[in-house]
Amino acid sequence: MIDVRPYVGRSPLALVRAFWRDLRSGIAEMDAVGGDLVIASAPVLPPVVLVRHPDLLRELLVDRNADVTKARGLRLARRILGDGLLTSEPPVHTRQRRLVLPAFHHGRLRQYARQMVELTEAEADRWAEGIPFDGAAAMSRLALAIAGRTLFGADVLSDANRVGRAVHDAMRAFDGAQFPFADKLMWLPTRANRTANRARATLDAVVYGLIADRHAAPADADDLLGMLLDARDEETGDAMTDLEVRDEAMTLLLAGHETTAAALAWTWLLLAQNPHAEARLWAEVDALDGPPSFDVLDRLLVTRATFAEAMRLYPPAWAVGREAARDTSLGGHPIPRRATILFAPLHLHRDARFWDEPLAFRPERFAPEARSGRHKFAYLPFSAGRRGCIGEQFAWVEGTLVLATLARRWRLALAGPPPHPHGSVTLRPAGQLRLVPTAR
Ligand code: HEM
Repeated sequence: MIDVRPYVGRSPLALVRAFWRDLRSGIAEMDAVGGDLVIASAPVLPPVVLVRHPDLLRELLVDRNADVTKARGLRLARRILGDGLLTSEPPVHTRQRRLVLPAFHHGRLRQYARQMVELTEAEADRWAEGIPFDGAAAMSRLALAIAGRTLFGADVLSDANRVGRAVHDAMRAFDGAQFPFADKLMWLPTRANRTANRARATLDAVVYGLIADRHAAPADADDLLGMLLDARDEETGDAMTDLEVRDEAMTLLLAGHETTAAALAWTWLLLAQNPHAEARLWAEVDALDGPPSFDVLDRLLVTRATFAEAMRLYPPAWAVGREAARDTSLGGHPIPRRATILFAPLHLHRDARFWDEPLAFRPERFAPEARSGRHKFAYLPFSAGRRGCIGEQFAWVEGTLVLATLARRWRLALAGPPPHPHGSVTLRPAGQLRLVPTAR
């Protein structure tokens, strides 16, 4: 029997606001409401449904995927991403996903791994003994460089500050993106909207520049951009338009770095706060004979588990939304068409019903031998099902190799108060994450 709780006496908007306003009070409030499914209804508004149980999440993401679309609020993200994989719906989504998938095959990942380590070594070269820096900004820079080089064969950071700022502004534009009706406000001439439009123009210049360069030199087309430009429609034989390529490329560039960067930033914070976990990580990376590589990933299980545990406590995609496209149900409970359906990996990963001592940072939970007892859908940093993350394996390889490469060379201590998490479209440190490096 599933436990359905009404969000008593409060409107759907109040539920969404409670969820977003302050992450810690949001978790506490939802825990106080309890149950597996929380439903906020009001006479005129479509209801908002919060899913809080792994069985129901499996049902939502796998069995009922055809009954739901992406949440309305995500349409906000369209003004930057256009109609790429993250925001599109079938049949466009189905075709594009098939097209992009080969870029993430095993053989490709092996190729990317070399570039990941190379770019990470270059980042490590920039750090200087005892000189503090913003760890979140450094991880964003690195992850963006990796996505640009591996997927597009390009140095997208040649104009580093401008691109970095545009990415930052674009992410701010997604604040509240899951909020029902957020899309209604995006045409107002507010400062936030103007900033978003400027960010879009800068990012457009970068991505259209990549496309133009490739049109000019099509011979080097063996990467994601080449695949997109070479793709032909099965029925009409038509190539994708530059706008379609732009939307897909922009999506992969942004979705492909911002999340990993956030996960890495939180990992450094947690390591700085947990010397035992840090010592276990060092023992593993110091035992390698040479620099980390794709071929030694099976000797980096503590590193991978450390990254996994950081994403449990701070899942970059902290909240995920859907909208019911037709009347449907969850656990036998009716969900009407147009209902907003939300789930929060952030809440799920800290739920004491599914995790022992949920607030403790214990990478051992993700040791291969410890995994068997866990409900597969109690850990969803990459979501799951047909709309699950296409870059999941890429992210595991990247997270593990970046951590291992940097941990072999530097110890990072916290040089200021630990930042609180801020929930925009990704879960980022609010303010700076000041880290001070010491050579190892
Ligand atoms: C730690 C890193 C990452 C995390 C936590 C993450 C998380 C997620 C999540 C939760 C979704 C599903 C969103 C939803 O259902 O609304 C998603 C989708 C997606 N991710 Fe990731 N992601 C990561 C890295 C990447 C990378 C490296 C790439 C590409 C290089 C990528 C590309 C995408 C794309 C294109 C989608 C949309 C997939 C679809 O709907 O078919 N992500 N990601």
